[in-house]
Amino acid sequence: MKITVIGAGNVGSTIAERIVDQELANEVVLVDVIEGMPQGKGLDMSASAPIQGSDTKVIGTNSYEPTENSDITFITAGIARKPGMSRDDLQTTNAKIIKSCTEQAVKVSPNTIIIVVSNPLDVMTYVALKTSGFERNRVIGMAGILDSSRFRKFISTELNVSVEDISTFVLGSHGDTMVPLPRYSTVAGIPLPELMDQETIDRLVQRTRDGGIEIVNLLKTGSAYYAPSASAVQMVEAIVKDKKRILPCAVFLQGEYAIQDTVLGVPIKLGKKGMEEIIQIKLNPDEQAELNKSAADVKANMNKIII
Ligand code: LAC
Repeated sequence: MKITVIGAGNVGSTIAERIVDQELANEVVLVDVIEGMPQGKGLDMSASAPIQGSDTKVIGTNSYEPTENSDITFITAGIARKPGMSRDDLQTTNAKIIKSCTEQAVKVSPNTIIIVVSNPLDVMTYVALKTSGFERNRVIGMAGILDSSRFRKFISTELNVSVEDISTFVLGSHGDTMVPLPRYSTVAGIPLPELMDQETIDRLVQRTRDGGIEIVNLLKTGSAYYAPSASAVQMVEAIVKDKKRILPCAVFLQGEYAIQDTVLGVPIKLGKKGMEEIIQIKLNPDEQAELNKSAADVKANMNKIII
């Protein structure tokens, strides 16, 4: 198993570190345009492997040749938000970067699975899908796991119960129109509306929607990376171990959930082939309306992109 991580910033390097720590690959290749930076981080991470008891090799590079025949390729490159910016403000700059990274990566790894992490997530996943020309099961965006994990943590704090017993369900875009579904979010199998009043649910849902910007406003110079990297690595584990996990991820919908030709977060079955199935559930009219709004938002942004 060989995994490439494009972009050796906070998100990319933390993904690489977690893969090494969990020995989820034989080799990790960290790519960045900044000379010396991925090499230095790679060397540093390599020296942590003996302590972790991990035989995963890590190298850093400024070129794509060493990424040849990667099984999984992460795209984390691009600029991150600063206070006052929405994820959509990154679109024009990051679309060019993601296009160029995708072209170079797929030239040497035509069979790779691409996992996009760069923002605005749904639109950048579309850019990677179109640029690669891959079938949709091999180009997947990471966001739903992150948003679900934030929602889980907020519920756990509110109820003072273990995160382990909480399962949440978040659909839609990784943006202001994301659709957390309280009815399908449970604590030890008990639906959330049985455990807290609507006002509390609404507050936690809103905090989940604002989870990214809350951190941007605190950090001031960048965005979150601990939870994003943990989420990305959960996807690696599902693929590498062919676990067939059901996880919310951003994929290109072709009629599922009554949405056509738009990348949006939905529950998928994730295994060694990438997205192996889209899990469809019945939404009530309000939930469907929220999802439609989210899809329309992504589609409007997708239409601004020239690939
Ligand atoms: C977040 C950014 C990375 O949600 O999109 O933290």
